[in-house]
Amino acid sequence: MEMLGRSIVSIRDFPKEEIQTIVQKSLEVKAGKWSGVLKDKVLATLFFEPSTRTRLSFESAMVSMGGQTIGFADANVSSAKKGESLADTIRTVTGYCDAIVMRHPVEGAARLASEVATVPVINAGDGANQHPTQTFLDLVTIQEEFGRLSNLRIGMLGDLKYGRTVHSLAKALSLFGAQQVFISPPSLRMPGYTQEQLKQVGADYEEIEDISELTQELDVLYVTRIQKERFADFQEYERVAGAYTINRSAFEVLGEKCRVMHPLPRVDEISTELDETENAIYFRQAHNGIPTRQALLGLVLGVIQ
Ligand code: NCD
Repeated sequence: MEMLGRSIVSIRDFPKEEIQTIVQKSLEVKAGKWSGVLKDKVLATLFFEPSTRTRLSFESAMVSMGGQTIGFADANVSSAKKGESLADTIRTVTGYCDAIVMRHPVEGAARLASEVATVPVINAGDGANQHPTQTFLDLVTIQEEFGRLSNLRIGMLGDLKYGRTVHSLAKALSLFGAQQVFISPPSLRMPGYTQEQLKQVGADYEEIEDISELTQELDVLYVTRIQKERFADFQEYERVAGAYTINRSAFEVLGEKCRVMHPLPRVDEISTELDETENAIYFRQAHNGIPTRQALLGLVLGVIQ
């Protein structure tokens, strides 16, 4: 696998073997010590949209490996506010750093940036499209929890239309033969183009509207937030807001062993009464952002082979 200098834009750019290798490297990184290996390297974090976990875990990963970070966490303090094009911003920043992590509201922005930059660009979310590094840390968490990525029955619940994390995750899981159940209100179903891509690779999935319609227990329920900021019509948002809340009684249909994941932030889709249970693995999932992003940075910057 050649990762040196490579951009990470979409999970579809990674065949199954590469995904497996990255998950394995992340678990090796988690078990090891990496201080100092990225000394003198600079990471630029360009966040045109809000973030807590993705930006801070990338920055923490970089610093823990001896590197430095520069960047902005608010588009209003960048020259985008003055009307600069994204291409010009990237053409400039590429000369200031060794890698760029970017989050942007426009689908395809990361691909464009990767074509303009002379350093690797890592997509930290482009609109409702993709969030590949979230998927890598989700898979690391699944591998850690189950000891495998294959033969799992995984439900994805909530906003499957605008949620970029589930678009990336569903594609990756389909390579491992997962049985997937997409659970959403009719207006927030997995988009047609994503379903087409899943069908092309022979993905095994079904669509339902509520967990009460489940015919079998799940290994994982991956819960997502309704992506309020992506609705064109606020009334449409209000119709689906609060559609789902997972609480203890949900495990009667999910199965007592079902693990609950969430990319976070959570609003009201998971009751806090679950937080201390063995079912809840979402905070460990968030913490796996560090070794996963250390591994990805190490790979694209050439200190991990
Ligand atoms: C997600 C995102 O930004 O897409 N957050 C994250 O990176 N963990 C999920 C969300 O915002 O709902």
